[in-house]
Amino acid sequence: MILQLSCLLILLINISTAQVNPYADCCDSYCYREDENPYLFMGTKTAYEFVYGKSSNQHIVPYCRPIQFWSFNRHGTRFPSRETIRAMETLQKLKENIIKNYDSRGSYPDTGKLCDRDLEGFRRWQWNLSISENVAHDLTQQGKDDMIFLARRYQTRYPELLRIPYSNQNFEFQYTDTDRTRSSYEAFAQGLFGQDAYRSQAQPMMNNNITRGYKSCNAWLRDVKNNPESLFELQRFKERDDYKRVIAHVSRRLGFRFTLNETLVRTMYDMCRYEKSWFVNRISPWCAAFTKEHLKILEYAEDLKYYYTSGYGHEMNHKLGCSAVKDMMDRFERTVSGNYHEPRVVVHFTHTEALQLLMVALGINKDNQPLTADNMRVQQRRLWRTSITNPFSANLVAVLYQCNDGEKDRVMFFLNEKPVDYPGCAVGLCNWKYLKEQLYETIQNCDLEFCDAGSAVRSYLTYPLLLISGLFVYFNRF
Ligand SMILES: *[C@@H]1O[C@H](CO)[C@@H](O)[C@H](O)[C@H]1NC(C)=O
Ligand SMILES: *[C@@H]1O[C@H](CO)[C@@H](O)[C@H](O)[C@H]1NC(C)=O
Ligand SMILES: *[C@@H]1O[C@H](CO)[C@@H](O)[C@H](O)[C@H]1NC(C)=O
Repeated sequence: MILQLSCLLILLINISTAQVNPYADCCDSYCYREDENPYLFMGTKTAYEFVYGKSSNQHIVPYCRPIQFWSFNRHGTRFPSRETIRAMETLQKLKENIIKNYDSRGSYPDTGKLCDRDLEGFRRWQWNLSISENVAHDLTQQGKDDMIFLARRYQTRYPELLRIPYSNQNFEFQYTDTDRTRSSYEAFAQGLFGQDAYRSQAQPMMNNNITRGYKSCNAWLRDVKNNPESLFELQRFKERDDYKRVIAHVSRRLGFRFTLNETLVRTMYDMCRYEKSWFVNRISPWCAAFTKEHLKILEYAEDLKYYYTSGYGHEMNHKLGCSAVKDMMDRFERTVSGNYHEPRVVVHFTHTEALQLLMVALGINKDNQPLTADNMRVQQRRLWRTSITNPFSANLVAVLYQCNDGEKDRVMFFLNEKPVDYPGCAVGLCNWKYLKEQLYETIQNCDLEFCDAGSAVRSYLTYPLLLISGLFVYFNRF
């Protein structure tokens, strides 16, 4: 009896706490403008400036000299999609309402309201009208600058390879069929060759299996990328109190009596991170809508999405990046076996998902436990963190070295200019033989034929058909 009563009690307590009170413990005080150490990690819309490795001597390997350079680059910071630009335009109106809330002593909370300097930031903010739908997806000036300086830093590290005059035997560039990857290539070439950049050539690659194979992989588009099931963990995360509280607190912080639409809060987040990646030294007032904890929760939501659509979370993602791995390994193999017609430098300009699929095929930045809606706290130090691995201008570089001492051929990996902690290698430096063993299966089984295989849905349909025709055959025997 007592047991039953206490069970009932527990049940009742559970029911009452299941209702989120969005204003409970609302809200932490936070003043963005006065924060000397603001949170800058914004998922795949993070500025490269805040992420790349600034240490300058990790490329030096004693008794070895670099002989080939291979790189896979995401384009630089860009303007948003048309839909996002349209959504951002509505923030002009929202901004006026925020100011009205504050001027009329609206319902902002006692603690956690905007500080005067953040409010002042909102007052001064205006949507830049030159960012219209016809610049959607284009590279920004910051994106070009990041590419120029990235090229120059690598040139300083590897003058033997990257300071030689341009010739199409020594350099091979490829970009996907988009303006932002072409502009990224042009800026990179400008960084390397300066006034001679006009001489450099590149191949636009349409539906190329290396740089953009996934875009033409029907099975992946159907079963992973456009499959709502891939967003299952993200949707579950959005149902959690942590996430709902972000939406409620942001609404309250901006002085609204009601909870704003989640889509609108996400648009504010986009405005904050885009503005920060276009003008790294400026402050976007939209970032002031969020506390650091809010930004970490939104960052995790994005990591969850990519973990399942182009990360370790789906089996098919393990197969798709193999063509890029194969391209790299084939080229190194030819150089190792003495083919001196191989280009010294190969650079691909591509997209977030392609880079993630490559990481998965290589097996880097893999967590022991999968990311799920429930384990954000355990995953605080996760390796799958798109802010760090996939900011704008993200790049994976592999350099082949020839050594006079010890193992003759070695490969060094860098992700965003930091040595990659490749399993079994020493601070990013792998023996060629070991690497070949590790990647042998990936390369041998690299066959994208599954891309055109029938869907899972169709195979469910074929079972009843088989059954019916089986029965037909069975009865026809009599
Ligand atoms: C508005 O955007 C354009 C295009 O990116 C840029 O050149 C200009 O500096 C921006 N103006 C302001 C005030 O940020
Ligand atoms: C939020 O706004 C979007 C677009 O304006 C709309 O499609 C959606 O239904 C809204 N969601 C809620 C929960 O009101
Ligand atoms: C790309 O992969 C598809 C599917 O495996 C194949 O049919 C096609 O020939 C490949 N294209 C190139 C250029 O290798």
